[in-house]
Amino acid sequence: MSLLETLKQWEGDFQTEVAQVQKNPEAEVVEQLRVRWLGRKGKVSTLYEQLKELGGEERPKVGKKINDLRTSVETSLERLKSISLQHAIDAKLTDRKLDTSLPVSRNFMGGSLHPVTLIRTQFLKEFRRYGFSVWEGPELEFDFYNFGALNFPDDHPSRDMQDTFFVADRQKLVLRTHTSNIQIHAMLQNPPPIRFIAPGRVYRCDNDLTHSPMFHQLEGVLVDRGVSFAHLKGMIDAIVKALFGHDVKTRFRPSFFPFVEPGAEVDMLCTLCRGKGCRVCSQTGWLEIMGCGMVHPNVFENVNYDSEAYTGFAFGMGLDRMAMLAFGIDDLRLMFEGDEQFHNCFPVYPAR
Ligand code: PHE
Repeated sequence: MSLLETLKQWEGDFQTEVAQVQKNPEAEVVEQLRVRWLGRKGKVSTLYEQLKELGGEERPKVGKKINDLRTSVETSLERLKSISLQHAIDAKLTDRKLDTSLPVSRNFMGGSLHPVTLIRTQFLKEFRRYGFSVWEGPELEFDFYNFGALNFPDDHPSRDMQDTFFVADRQKLVLRTHTSNIQIHAMLQNPPPIRFIAPGRVYRCDNDLTHSPMFHQLEGVLVDRGVSFAHLKGMIDAIVKALFGHDVKTRFRPSFFPFVEPGAEVDMLCTLCRGKGCRVCSQTGWLEIMGCGMVHPNVFENVNYDSEAYTGFAFGMGLDRMAMLAFGIDDLRLMFEGDEQFHNCFPVYPAR
């Protein structure tokens, strides 16, 4: 079959598939359609691949036809997406009908804490047993605390627009991208030894099924004489076990952060499949939960700590992820919608 013939046939195929999806316009089905046609290995891509092999005068003509098909696929998908959204809203409206004629209930529900609040409280409790105090720091931050003092080179990619929300260029103000800014505030204000954790909101320009532009981290720092990576490793492992169960293993993988050396990322055994491999852990059996490492000598220099006399470790973990794992929540968006029925599912931290 020539490329033109394929094109013709696929135009028809697409229309048939659209008609099919319209009968059942669920977001997932629409997404599958998108991947099938516009995905990296989708049908439109294969057409462009074949176009490369076409020589001579035909090429621009057929190329334009493929462009047209792509545009029409894009438009149809946009339309299907909004139909699917409407469909979801309608379903919710019928499913959760409110009877406005009911009298005000006397046994008023007391409400409950957010899963992130519950897990944060749990972590604070554990870390207090190791003598950590609790710090907070500003969410609107100077470049110096968020990046510069943490040994980020000026051209480091995470300073890029894609990650960082810049607030005011001239004053170099950003929404903090991590809670590590608190490391600098705390160490500048206190001589060593120091031992604290610092929970807080952080912001990155990212929004999809597994990322929210605002999320929560818990930072931790311990600086003293003779602190080693082994202390960090032992403590993190013990705390993860205390929160998630004693059969939950952790593993440390070498990684890079400008403010630690050596640096590592910590994975814990997937709490949903216990290492067997499932959708949540992408079949690997492990889930990444934090970054950590030994505080970089340059950071010590920036906060006037004597890096000959003192060593220390630092770590920063994502609390939203941890809350989802602890409570078995599989959709990040639920965490931020404020749905009362959702929140009533998690009155307390589950016993381990
Ligand atoms: N700040 C890092 C991040 O947000 C995590 C981290 C904290 C890594 C402390 C090492 C030490 O990804």
